[in-house]
Amino acid sequence: MTDQVNPPQRTLMGPGPSDIHPSVLAALAAPTVGHLDPYFLQIMDEVQQMLREVFQTENQMTMAISGTGSAGMETCVVNLVEPRDKVIVCQNGVFGGRMADVARRAGGDVTVLERPFGEVFSADEIAAAVDQHKPKVVGIVHAETSTGALQPLEEISRIVHDAGALLLVDCVTSLGGLPVSIDAVGIDAAYSGTQKCLSCPPGLAPVTFSPRALEAMDARSNAVSSWYLDISMLRNYWGADRAYHHTAPINMNYALHQALRLVLDEGLENRFARHRQHHEALKAGLEALGISYSVTEPSHRLPMLNSVLIPEGIDDGQVRSQLLNEFGIEIGGGLGPMKGKTWRIGLMGEAASSTNVLSFLAAVDQCLAAQRQSAPTGAGTAAASAVYLNS
Ligand SMILES: Cc1ncc(COP(=O)(O)O)c(C=O)c1O
Repeated sequence: MTDQVNPPQRTLMGPGPSDIHPSVLAALAAPTVGHLDPYFLQIMDEVQQMLREVFQTENQMTMAISGTGSAGMETCVVNLVEPRDKVIVCQNGVFGGRMADVARRAGGDVTVLERPFGEVFSADEIAAAVDQHKPKVVGIVHAETSTGALQPLEEISRIVHDAGALLLVDCVTSLGGLPVSIDAVGIDAAYSGTQKCLSCPPGLAPVTFSPRALEAMDARSNAVSSWYLDISMLRNYWGADRAYHHTAPINMNYALHQALRLVLDEGLENRFARHRQHHEALKAGLEALGISYSVTEPSHRLPMLNSVLIPEGIDDGQVRSQLLNEFGIEIGGGLGPMKGKTWRIGLMGEAASSTNVLSFLAAVDQCLAAQRQSAPTGAGTAAASAVYLNS
């Protein structure tokens, strides 16, 4: 039995959670106040306002659900989908599959559009499916953490709206690292998590709903099947009434407040550019080490989640253990059908730094050399350094 929690210091370069700024950890340790204390109500207001800025939306109904990203997913789905409602879910990875499962459990009449892992959906195939099935909701993942694929949304949004449907988007991995542009793109409902590019511990799920999404909820004929996630009640807690619904995780909201402040102090555009820059350096380094991306189309690669093919003859588990045990670096293995085939290297939020990129490239070079019984080449760090020098 551990008598005092004393976790090892890790560099979190996996699919989340990501490295956390010390001031966010300090906020977690601040004194707990009551959940209806005027101080906490002000924190809630400010969290909502900062979330609107990060989501790039004016949506009044923007808040943090108490729970992880999956709770955000369930909140969006169970409030928008009633039994027998037609729903299209686009599945090109694990999280699209999870959304389809949640929509079925909500009683939806779900059609799953499938694409191989690592590919994205074209506007034409969505248009054909929408035309055929006439759904109420179309759900899609913006940044598929299981594959490293970035889904373009603009044209899909137009198609979904022209058909009178609602667009639901998973922004768990993209929020804070890529523009999600809720209002400009026309997304009706979106959810995220705190532990990816917001660099906060896991535990809250930012969500946002457009006025159209709220109208659809108001027009429901059945009560939402989840009491905890029912927006019609949560609206009164996070809205002007502040009517008790549940005891919000106070200290997690402090942490999210501080994490959002850091995001906005940096500036969204600067933050997006930082993710892009370190992705470019990492990519150059990986390619110099002979490691290639599993998403073949460069414009569809996520900057914050680099999914790469494990080189031939290299033992996946051994490399990841060596990275963790010898260098304190966590990266992710492949999920679902990608298990044993890919590594997922995260550059999320605080973790998107030259220190992390260069340390990881030096460490993985050592791990590969150990298995090949050769000397490390240094080619990865050299190539990444060249990108930094030229940027
Ligand atoms: C794209 C995506 N959606 C949903 C989730 C689920 O979030 P959580 O694990 O925080 O419940 C994740 C988690 O990795 C994710 O990457």
